[in-house]
Amino acid sequence: MDRKEILLLQEAEQKRIAEGLHDTAVQDLICLSQRMELILLYMDQDITRAKLETVSARKEVKRIIGEMRETIYDLRPMMLDDIGWEASFERLRDKLLCENSELSVCFDIDAVDLSDGITAISVYRIVSEGCQNMMKHSKANRIEVSVKNDGKLIRISICDNGIGIEKESSFEKNHFGLQFMSERVEALSGKMKIVSDTDGTVIKIEIPTESEV
Ligand SMILES: Nc1ncnc2c1ncn2[C@@H]1O[C@H](COP(=O)(O)OP(=O)(O)OP(=O)(O)O)[C@@H](O)[C@H]1O
Ligand SMILES: [Mg+2]
Repeated sequence: MDRKEILLLQEAEQKRIAEGLHDTAVQDLICLSQRMELILLYMDQDITRAKLETVSARKEVKRIIGEMRETIYDLRPMMLDDIGWEASFERLRDKLLCENSELSVCFDIDAVDLSDGITAISVYRIVSEGCQNMMKHSKANRIEVSVKNDGKLIRISICDNGIGIEKESSFEKNHFGLQFMSERVEALSGKMKIVSDTDGTVIKIEIPTESEV
């Protein structure tokens, strides 16, 4: 991958984040602003209704703050330095369980050299995208993630027991997660393999540690 391709990848990733924010936070804030106008009207006509609407709007504000925090958290590569490697994966695991408490989540994560920042954050982002895909698309009730590091190679495995990836749906227009994952792996001189059928999906990735590149 040459410098221009890496810049294009960065631009595409930023575009995806911007579109994500536009589709969620901005839309939510527009709705909220309309609700505020409604509350102003109710204030003159029905103060109880105005109060109830205010309480529910406040809840909505809290939800938007939570969502924006998640986006900012996902954007910040410094996160691993701040809370550490293990805590970052624990946080991800908690997030999955929070979305679906019935889910069986098994994480087996070896330590990775954080001084090699780009490899560490890439491993985290790959696992995070794999988990998000599983939650969004797979209908699985079990996910197993392992990150094994023997000092030369980092081996990532993300497995779910869901419905599998439909042939036509992967690497499609407006679906960037798997494409970014594969481009990131390529930029780090690694290899990626996806095996998916109606019993689930297995993504296996190998990335050389920086000392081995
Ligand atoms: N674990 C999975 N199980 C079932 N289907 C999957 C899984 N992972 C991906 N897919 C399918 O592959 C498609 C492409 O995934 P990809 O991550 O590239 O895009 P996306 O998740 O739809 O959108 P984005 O990641 O850009 O927000 C998904 O739309 C989904 O149909
Ligand atoms: Mg995705």
